This record gives sequence, structure tokens and C-alpha cells, in this order.
Amino acid sequence: MIFTSYPKAQTEHYAKEIAAAISRVLDSPTYILGEETRSFEKEFAAFCGAADAVGVANGTDAISIALRGCGIGPGDEVITVSHTAIATVAAIAAVGATAVLVDVDPDTMVINAALARAAIGPKTKAIVAVHLYGQPAPMDELTALAKEHGLVLVEDCAQAHGARYRGQHVGTFGHAGCFSFYPTKNLGAIGDGGAVITNDAALAAKMRQLRQYGWDTDRVGQSVGVNSRLDEIQAAILRAKLPGLAGDVDRRRQIADLYAHLLKDAGLQLPVAIPNSAHGFNLYVVRIAGRDRVLARLAEAGISAGIHYAVPAHRHPGYAHCIRVVGSGGAGADADALPETDRIAATVLSLPIYPELTDAQVDKIAQAVKQSVRSSK
Ligand SMILES: Cc1ncc(COP(=O)(O)O)c(C=O)c1O
Repeated sequence: MIFTSYPKAQTEHYAKEIAAAISRVLDSPTYILGEETRSFEKEFAAFCGAADAVGVANGTDAISIALRGCGIGPGDEVITVSHTAIATVAAIAAVGATAVLVDVDPDTMVINAALARAAIGPKTKAIVAVHLYGQPAPMDELTALAKEHGLVLVEDCAQAHGARYRGQHVGTFGHAGCFSFYPTKNLGAIGDGGAVITNDAALAAKMRQLRQYGWDTDRVGQSVGVNSRLDEIQAAILRAKLPGLAGDVDRRRQIADLYAHLLKDAGLQLPVAIPNSAHGFNLYVVRIAGRDRVLARLAEAGISAGIHYAVPAHRHPGYAHCIRVVGSGGAGADADALPETDRIAATVLSLPIYPELTDAQVDKIAQAVKQSVRSSK
């Protein structure tokens, strides 16, 4: 079976470096917030071109700690998209804010900045820009919007390590950029991990307090914090893999180019790039009517494709109390107010993509996709 992502291949590729990293931690005196985390924070910030990085336990916490660090809390509204991992909305809910969900652009599948503008109201305090699949959100429009209205701008870069907009790494446009190191991400741990990058020293200091009970350097709680630390073993493993990240993202782009070439006449909608951007291709997502039939045929052919995401955030019942949907017709709780999001949820299909996939495998997948599309008609 060929999987949509396959982090074990990376573990095998970096086996020696990972073993050395783990034994370094075993021999060290500190298992939590020690030298590995401090060094990783510096190295990851440098990779992104940011002044600082704060290691946290996962990508969801990265977003909620960034929002809290920027003063977002109960009563505030945060504009984002419904077409994202539910984690984005969970992070907004975790700070007690309301997620105001707007529709996405049907081609690029990231936030429609004009709809974000139309959703701004008196309670709006922040925007979370999601670089979904590794596709940068339209940052020219979003940074202008945030500036004009004095909004906090947080970037959800969980799927976008290595992605750039106008040559600048994502996560460095707003107040904070939030990363996940879930094993399938472009930079994956062997477990959970996350980080927030920022150029704001005061914000970095605040987030370092929040990730550890609100403690200051004297271990006195200055606010109510959480326990969300990146542990030393994960930090050491991430350090072992970080030097390969740029090459891994290049390989993801090569695979994407190969798919685009092989599938150009397959009757699918292929990924459409945001202008002036370099996609990180954590996921390679095509669109096709009758998606579920194609998915089933692919599984029969030994290819496990994925769906990101079948149920948009505004259709998760457990989140109804902390979201507000704003459609193109204006505010309102109309369940059908996000038509592009709903159409996307019904038609997206994620094809396997990870750096260790060979050209021959990509070719095999592409032939199977064509065959599955033909036989599903
Ligand atoms: C877009 C997006 N945001 C946030 C997250 C949350 O990251 P984590 O699973 O590390 O909490 C993820 C990870 O799945 C994601 O894909």
C-alpha cells in the first residue's frame, strides 16, 4: 500500500542521526527545556528568518499560546476559515474567543481576503491566516487588512514549513507564526511537537511564560499558563532532521510538478498557486466530482489517498457554540453560507506526497488515478 504520507520513511532515512540525537538526550542532565530545545529554537528561527522561536507541545497549543500572548481572550472574535484542520478552531476556542469563519477562494482553497474584510466587526481582534496544504494565504491583502484595522495577525503554518510568499518564509508576516511537528508534517517529530516564531521579543518572552504555568524566570506565575513544553527528545530529533528540511521541501515540489505533468489531462482540478508564492506541498490536493468513488478505486489499486477535510469546521457539532459563520451575504448563522467550503469538502482528494516517494511510484499513482477517474465515470 502507498500511503498519503509515510513518516517512517524519514525515520529510516535519518536512523543514525536520530539514534545519536536520542542518546545525547539520555546522557544529558535535563529532559525538559534544556540545551536541545534552546538550540532547536534558535536553529528553527534561523531557518524561517525569524528573530525567535518558542518550542511548545503541539501545533494547536502553538496557535492558542500565540493568541493569548497577543492578548486575545473571551469576548474577542478571530476571523479564520472553516476549510482547515479543526485544530485551528480548537485553538481559538481554547482561549475563549469566537471563531468567525469565512469562505475560501475556490481555486487556491485558502482564505478569500475580501470576505475576511467584510466579516470585520466591533469585536474582531485577530485574523488567523491558514497556509493550508502548504499554500501561502494571500499575505499582501491580509497584512494590509490587519494594519488598517489594528488586528493581531497569527499565521497557522502547521502544514507550511518551507513555504514562502514573495520570497519570505511564512510565519514571519504577522505577529506570530505557528508550526506543528506532528509526524506527517514537512518537519515531523516522532511524537508531538510545535513552535511559535516571532520577531517580537516581548511576545516571545510572554509565550515562554505561558507555555510553563505562566512562570517568570523566578518561577513565579505572572498569569495563568499551561503546561505545553517541547521535550528534549523531540527537540533533538527535530534538530537532526532540520538540515534536510529545505531539500525535503524541494523534493515535495518536484513530486508536485511531476503530478501536474502526468495528470494534466486526467479530468481533475489540479492545485492552483497563489501568485508570488512557493508552495510547501505538505499535501497534494486535487479536486474531482465523484471523489468517493475515485478514492475507493485507488484503495483497490493499493493507493491510500486522503481527504483534507471532509467535514468543514462549521459542520462540527461540538464547535457550534464557539463559531460564527459569515457568508458572502453578510453575517448570519446560515449553515449553507460557505458554498465554496462545502464544494471543496465534497471534492478534495489528497494524493500521496512525501520526499522519499520515488518518481516511479509517482508515475504508478498517476496512472492509477487516471484509471480510477475513467472507471468511476
Ligand atoms: C492546519 C493545521 N493547524 C493546526 C494543526 C494542529 O497541530 P497539532 O496536531 O500538532 O496540534 C494541524 C495539524 O494537524 C493543522 O494541519
